[in-house]
Amino acid sequence: MKILVTGGAGYIGSHVAELAAEAGHEIVVVDDLSTGILERVAGVSHRIALESDAGLEQLREIFAKDQFDAVIHLAARKQVGESVLNPEVYYKDNISGLANLLIAMREANVMRLVFSSSAATYGFPDVAKVSEDTVCEPINPYGQTKLVGEWLVKAGATWGLRGVSLRYFNVAGSVREGLADRAALNLIPIAIKNIKSGTAVSVFGDDYATDDGSCIRDYVHVGDLARAHMAALDYLDNPERQFDTFNVGTGQGASVFEVLDELRKVSGKNFEVEVAPRRQGDPPRLVADVSRIEAELSFRCEFTLNQIVESAWASAN
Ligand code: UFG
Repeated sequence: MKILVTGGAGYIGSHVAELAAEAGHEIVVVDDLSTGILERVAGVSHRIALESDAGLEQLREIFAKDQFDAVIHLAARKQVGESVLNPEVYYKDNISGLANLLIAMREANVMRLVFSSSAATYGFPDVAKVSEDTVCEPINPYGQTKLVGEWLVKAGATWGLRGVSLRYFNVAGSVREGLADRAALNLIPIAIKNIKSGTAVSVFGDDYATDDGSCIRDYVHVGDLARAHMAALDYLDNPERQFDTFNVGTGQGASVFEVLDELRKVSGKNFEVEVAPRRQGDPPRLVADVSRIEAELSFRCEFTLNQIVESAWASAN
């Protein structure tokens, strides 16, 4: 298939694009390079800011030149804190960018879309495991723009679009150094950066109602996540499909202290940990119910927490 991957120079997008190319698909990458890194892209790429009028025109040109079979749309802003401070950037990049993509896809008759969504759409769920039927009450502009994005993709069924929305849980690790997460905005990369610089690692709250008092998350290896996109494309092969949403997680929770224990084992370093105040807006527990993706896409994560942490450590420079 010929596939357009937006955000394909990003940490997750480059893993998806590389796996899709390895599977024999012809890949074209679109990225504005605001956080993406060109060296991560092996094939054809275009520097496009999707949310702009010029971006829409550039997309139209790309779709006019070649017939694409599918789009995987990862290009987006993804920082919760930033979204609270600058929501307008999230409205533009995450919503207008997707709207322009849908306009261009409709005009060009490209009818398959895999959309990157997030567990942030759930907000503060009060359940042991969140299923796709758990009510979505996002608590920040990031999660809100992802939920709106899902609605736009779903609404594409009116003009024949077949869409899958993947709700990513906590993505980490790397399949190789060149594709690693360089941003240090999440627990594992932040902790690795601190270990390497000899700075204490902060645990944001140890008084939650969890076994060890720290927050629990469902950590997913980015290589597994990339495979989920391939499974979603297979699912969309069936012309009967319209729209569906799938959690991408392992179904296993790990606390912040447990992640740091793994890092201690993997790095062999007994780094300092300090308990800091709770971070605003952190749900105590966010773990995926993965029964739907297992049943419908025959997909299951394979990497363990140890492998996730090990690959992140090995690919950090
Ligand atoms: N944490 C610390 N210390 C740190 C950094 C993080 O204790 O230095 C804690 C956080 O408080 C949280 C956990 O580690 O309890 C994970 O935090 P991250 O910032 O790594 O990730 P989040 O769970 O906040 O959010 C991530 C993505 C979101 C996505 C969400 C889905 O950043 O985009 O996972 O579960 F929506």
